[in-house]
Amino acid sequence: MVPLGIFSGFGRKARGAIKRQIISHHRRSGVILFSDTTLRDGEQMPGATLEPEDKLRIAKALEEAGIHSLDAGFPASSQADVDAIKSMIGVVKKPVLTALCRTVNSDVDAADEALAGNPPHKRGVSLFCGTSPLHRRDKLQKSESEVLEIISNSIAYAAEKFEIVAFSPEDASRTELPYLCEAYKAAIDAGATTIGFPDTVGFFTPEKVRETFRFMQDNIPNIDRVLLAVHFHNDLGLAVANTLAGIEEGANVVQCTVNGIGERAGNASLEEVAMALTLHQDQYGVTAKIDTSKLYPLSQLVSELTGVPLAPTKPIGGENIFATEAGIHQDGLLKNPDTYLPYRPEQVGAPGIRLVLGRHSGRSAVAHRLEELGLDLDDDGVMSVLEGIKQTPKGTSIDDDLLRDLAGKIGTAT
Ligand code: KIV
Ligand code: ZN
Repeated sequence: MVPLGIFSGFGRKARGAIKRQIISHHRRSGVILFSDTTLRDGEQMPGATLEPEDKLRIAKALEEAGIHSLDAGFPASSQADVDAIKSMIGVVKKPVLTALCRTVNSDVDAADEALAGNPPHKRGVSLFCGTSPLHRRDKLQKSESEVLEIISNSIAYAAEKFEIVAFSPEDASRTELPYLCEAYKAAIDAGATTIGFPDTVGFFTPEKVRETFRFMQDNIPNIDRVLLAVHFHNDLGLAVANTLAGIEEGANVVQCTVNGIGERAGNASLEEVAMALTLHQDQYGVTAKIDTSKLYPLSQLVSELTGVPLAPTKPIGGENIFATEAGIHQDGLLKNPDTYLPYRPEQVGAPGIRLVLGRHSGRSAVAHRLEELGLDLDDDGVMSVLEGIKQTPKGTSIDDDLLRDLAGKIGTAT
């Protein structure tokens, strides 16, 4: 394998050859690279504004989890984004830091300035330009060929300043397929090292992803010169499923956010994709290089700093994921946690299983908790406490004090 960090001192041709080798290595490695966009697309969520110091904390946590690259911000959009990116230089060292740019040279200049000081193999730009008929006609007011020219020129400009250049045709999923392939070809010819597929409005289904990616693989003649990234929004609740379908069809890079935060219904959730790939490695045949034990703390941190609460049912981070009140589940979990869990709390760094006592609880969980509290009741005593629990008014929290009270009333607790 070509070691990273060897661009400096080489001429353009040699750098091109090194890049091709690195890309081809990644494509063959079977490793899925995670490109986290919590700090950019995630922060676009109304109300999720992060201060530069918050972004730095999240970036460090993402680094610890093993993220390959970080979409660190959109320098042309705000000074706060520039400040946040600058604060990461020399501090967040392992992931590649990338900056978002429109296909506008001044955006690339702003990214170059914000990322100054990071080594060439750890800094990149991610350029986007709308390619769908809606974007061409109503937003950009440009013809097909004008958009292709904008893409070629801006990617070529970016490739003069950066070794890592990603191109994303915004609204790719609603772009005519032959034209989409032309846009990708133009970007690759101009020097893109990654091509992204943004499903900007979360419109796609897994079947459409498969069909489209097969078409792209067959109709972008230079596709083997780049990495293929996927970027799905969640408007139909399919972002994770679409991401996994993209991986099955050869995507190498997953763009996602912690807790799935982002525009409208959000993005594919990093922790959900990572766990699906980890649990089903046999199916996907790829490795997710993520330390899954960092996922739960990451999820809590992002929720705390963005102020975006987690639904109790949110996979991995939600408060109900390792909690149950149902008697049959509680009994099973006490006998073997795997009976009612797809993965153990420790695999994602969560605190542990929580057996909630309530009307649906059974004998086992009540006996277990009484024992933990040092209250030694016989079978009849446990059943009486359970009866007492079932008679409490709706919404009563069965805490340890209440359990002690109920056990005390039985009078047999030792
Ligand atoms: O969803 C989207 O299209 C984006 C682009 C900026 C890549 O986030
Ligand atoms: Zn997006």
